[in-house]
Amino acid sequence: MSPVAFAPVGPAAPAETVPVALSLQDLEVYLPRADDELQILHGVSFEVPKGSVVALAGESGSGKSTAALSAMRLLPWGARVTGRILADGRDVAAMSRDELRRFRAGHARIVLQDPWSSLHPMHSIGGQLVESARSADPWLSKQQARELSVEMLRRVGLPDPETRMTAYPHEMSGGQLQRVLIAMALVARPQLLLCDEPTTALDVSTQAQILELLLELNREMGLTIVIATHDLDVIAGIADRLVVMYAGRVVEEGPTAEVMAAPRHPYTWALMQTAPKHNTGTRMRTIDGRPPALDALPPGCAFADRCEFTVDVCRTSRPELVLIDTHTVHRTACTRVQSETGGATAAIDAPLEAS
Ligand SMILES: Nc1ncnc2c1ncn2[C@@H]1O[C@H](COP(=O)(O)OP(=O)(O)OP(=O)(O)O)[C@@H](O)[C@H]1O
Ligand SMILES: [Mg+2]
Repeated sequence: MSPVAFAPVGPAAPAETVPVALSLQDLEVYLPRADDELQILHGVSFEVPKGSVVALAGESGSGKSTAALSAMRLLPWGARVTGRILADGRDVAAMSRDELRRFRAGHARIVLQDPWSSLHPMHSIGGQLVESARSADPWLSKQQARELSVEMLRRVGLPDPETRMTAYPHEMSGGQLQRVLIAMALVARPQLLLCDEPTTALDVSTQAQILELLLELNREMGLTIVIATHDLDVIAGIADRLVVMYAGRVVEEGPTAEVMAAPRHPYTWALMQTAPKHNTGTRMRTIDGRPPALDALPPGCAFADRCEFTVDVCRTSRPELVLIDTHTVHRTACTRVQSETGGATAAIDAPLEAS
C-alpha cells in the first residue's frame, strides 16, 4: 500500500535514568452529572522529565486542562480519578491535606486559564503576591516577599511594578492579570509550573516576553514546565516534548521537533496543517468536523470520522498508544501507522495513502 520503505525499529535505547518531575499513569477522570458521571480522560499517560518543557496540545475539549488540574488534585468536587499521578515520585493522591497544601504552595504551581478564578477581587495585587511568596517560604520576611514580588512583576513585563502592587484586580486588563498570575506562581519559586493557556489573552509581543521568561527560568533555573496551549508557535518555541490529546486520550507523544516535522498520527498531522502560514498570516486549512461527544465515543478510533486515512479497522478497534521509536521515546495511537510501519518510523504524510 505504501511507496515508502520503512526503517526498522532500532535497538532499545540504553535505559537512561532521567529523573521524572511528573508522571501521569493510566489516568481516568470521571466528572459527576445529574444522574451519572462522564468520563473525561481515558488512560492518559505521559511523563515530564525534570527540567523539561512539555506541551499539551489538542482541540478544545480534548482534556488538556483536566489533565493539568488532575496533577494538582484540583478537579471539581465529586470527580473520580483512577490511575496514578506521581510528582517527584510522590503519589499526589496519597498526600495528606497538609502535604497537599505544601505541595501546592511551594513545589508545584498552576497558572489557570481564567485569571479571575485565581485572584481575590478584594485584595491588592501586592498583598496576593506577598501571600503567595510566603505561603511557599514562611521564612521570607514581608519585606523580602515584597521585593521578590516587585521583581517578578517587572520580569513578567508589567510597567511600573511598584504602583501595580497597590492596584486591585478590577483595575487591570485581562492581559495584565494573566501576567500577575504568572508572577504569583513564580514568586513561590516552584520546581514544577503548570500553565493552562498562559498567553492566550496576551498580545504578540507580551506573549513573546512571557515565553522568553519561561524559557529563561527553565534553562537557567531548571524549572520544569507543562504548558497546555492551542498555539503551535508557542509549542515550537518552547517545548522539548509534545503530548497531543484528542477526545480525552493521548494520541501522540514525542520530542516536539520530531512530532511537528514528522507526525505519526493523522490528527497531529491535521493539526499541523492548521498552523498559520507565516508569510501570509492565513491558516492553511482547518480540520473538518468536530470531535465526538464524550458520552458518545465510537468503539474504534475517536478521530476516525474526520481522518483522511481511515480504513475499516479504525472504526472497530481502538488503537493503543504504542512506542514507535525507542530512541526518542515517540508514541502514537494509530492502528494504520503501527501496522504499516511495523511500529517503525516514516511520517504520516508519507506512509499513508488517503482511503
Ligand atoms: N466541571 C466540569 N463539568 C463537566 N464537564 C467538564 C467540566 N470540566 C471540563 N468538562 C468537560 O471535559 C472535557 C475536557 O475539558 P477540558 O477543559 O479539560 O478541555 P481542554 O482541552 O482544556 O479544552 P480548552 O482548549 O477549551 O481549554 C470537555 O468536554 C469539557 O466540557
Ligand atoms: Mg483548557
